[in-house]
Amino acid sequence: MQSHWFKNAVIYCLEVDVFNDSNGDGIGDFVGLRQGLSYLAGLGVSCLWLLPFFKSPDRDDGYDVMDYLSVDPVLGDLGDFAAFMDEARDRGIRVIIDLVVNHTSNRHPWFQRARRKDPKYHDYYVWRSDPPGDTSKEVAFPGKEKSVWQYDKLAKAYYFHRFYHYQPDLNTANPAVREEIKKILGFWAALGVSGFRVDAAPFVISAKGANVEKQPHESFEFLNEFREFLRWKTGDAILLAEANVPPEQLTDFFGPEGTRMNMLLNFYVNPHLFLAIAQKSPEPILRSLRALPQIPASCQWAYFLRNHDELDLSRLAEPEREDCLRAFAPKKEMQLYGRGIRRRLAPMFNGDLAQTLLGYSIIFTIPGTPVFWFGDEIGMGEDLSLEERNSVRTPMQWSNERNAGFSTAPKEQLRRPVVSKGRFSYRKVNVRDLRREPQSLLNCLERMIRTRKEYPEFGTGSYRILETDRPKVIFAHACEDDGGHAVLAAHNLSDKPETVTVHLWKDSFDHFAYLFEEREDERISDGKIHLKLPGHGYSWLRLAPR
Ligand code: NOJ
Ligand code: CA
Repeated sequence: MQSHWFKNAVIYCLEVDVFNDSNGDGIGDFVGLRQGLSYLAGLGVSCLWLLPFFKSPDRDDGYDVMDYLSVDPVLGDLGDFAAFMDEARDRGIRVIIDLVVNHTSNRHPWFQRARRKDPKYHDYYVWRSDPPGDTSKEVAFPGKEKSVWQYDKLAKAYYFHRFYHYQPDLNTANPAVREEIKKILGFWAALGVSGFRVDAAPFVISAKGANVEKQPHESFEFLNEFREFLRWKTGDAILLAEANVPPEQLTDFFGPEGTRMNMLLNFYVNPHLFLAIAQKSPEPILRSLRALPQIPASCQWAYFLRNHDELDLSRLAEPEREDCLRAFAPKKEMQLYGRGIRRRLAPMFNGDLAQTLLGYSIIFTIPGTPVFWFGDEIGMGEDLSLEERNSVRTPMQWSNERNAGFSTAPKEQLRRPVVSKGRFSYRKVNVRDLRREPQSLLNCLERMIRTRKEYPEFGTGSYRILETDRPKVIFAHACEDDGGHAVLAAHNLSDKPETVTVHLWKDSFDHFAYLFEEREDERISDGKIHLKLPGHGYSWLRLAPR
């Protein structure tokens, strides 16, 4: 288990261009990020996941890549990247980066040659010459695109695009394209990254083109191929995939022997967790956890609350979706693509600290690796005047100084405006102020991170859901490792204080210790534990054997 560093990691996802601007041009950069590492190390982050930072026309926030082997000049150069990597390593922080190879930008030189029918590059993409039928149901961003085919005048043919029309899909069935992908993996691995977040993994390996609904099983082999390649390049680099597919299809992404993806972002438990908070009941969480497949011992789930995209509710039933929208995104402008919420975490909970911590406590204790979206650790808010998902991508709020301390540039030059109005304004919500308040979200999370790292059982142990006398409101579970170390977490989904009796699964425990509360250890008699939890409260315990 020792070598599986990612199982006990705390991942922090950020976008370089809105994190910290070092030269006052209004755009965050790698020098600024390097300066921000002391904050991240202090918080206890052990792995950064960087959103795309490659040369890009930036129409999809960098997910439209023009050159995979580059740093976008506005963010710095490869030297700045290397210096950042160096310092991250010194501080014990690993770095994983986005691998966006389902598609390129239409301005990528490969595509420019492909549309001119260059024999080497034409088949890097997926073409058809006859007019396509109605494919409006297959687009990734309903309301923004109408078809997955776009006519190109130079090629005199239609090219396939799962996402925006300016993101032509790469033809991953073409071995030459897979060689390019390996070149990208090898390049960044050589520069020291510890892995890749595989963007849109199901689409990378699916059959592309006319028969978009069919996915021949063979294509999962592509994942083996990439993983195998990476293993040769560097022993412990990982692949973390974005695969938002129904639970029964998830196993294939890990592979029966765990030879494909090391980790998957869990898009199934995520909406159920929010539903549980909306309904004040643990039932949706339990249901979603039970629906998950068993995963190979070498693999791991990655759990998040919010990310840089919309909160996707499409795996919930219609009335459940309604419950979530009513609770967390009651206005139309807070919703997106007919399936999601384009808000940050703290405002979804009306700034309520207890609910925010409850959410974090759950993703920190269910077996998996927690992932933060930058700024959510201080409870930042969103800007709904920005387009689509950009609402949750405003600059980091460092202090109550001009531009939230993000940049010294004139306001109009900022990559995106800082949140400057209302209760989530940088004047009220910023790193500097929150770190001075002992009970702030930031300080509670710092303690939570430290405690999570001290008890790796949460990430790697075998877990079991426990019986309680308050099953309608309490979610209690325990994690135990092979050496008999056991921890227990109890969560109160209701907004009222609760007294609960938790039944242990064996009677070999002598006493338990509270990991957060200032309370004495308590003896365990007849295999039961009695707890008092405030509304939306949680408790973590260490169980000591006799
Ligand atoms: C998933 C990314 O998370 C999202 O931000 C992006 O728009 C699409 N993939 C297309 O690359
Ligand atoms: Ca800059």
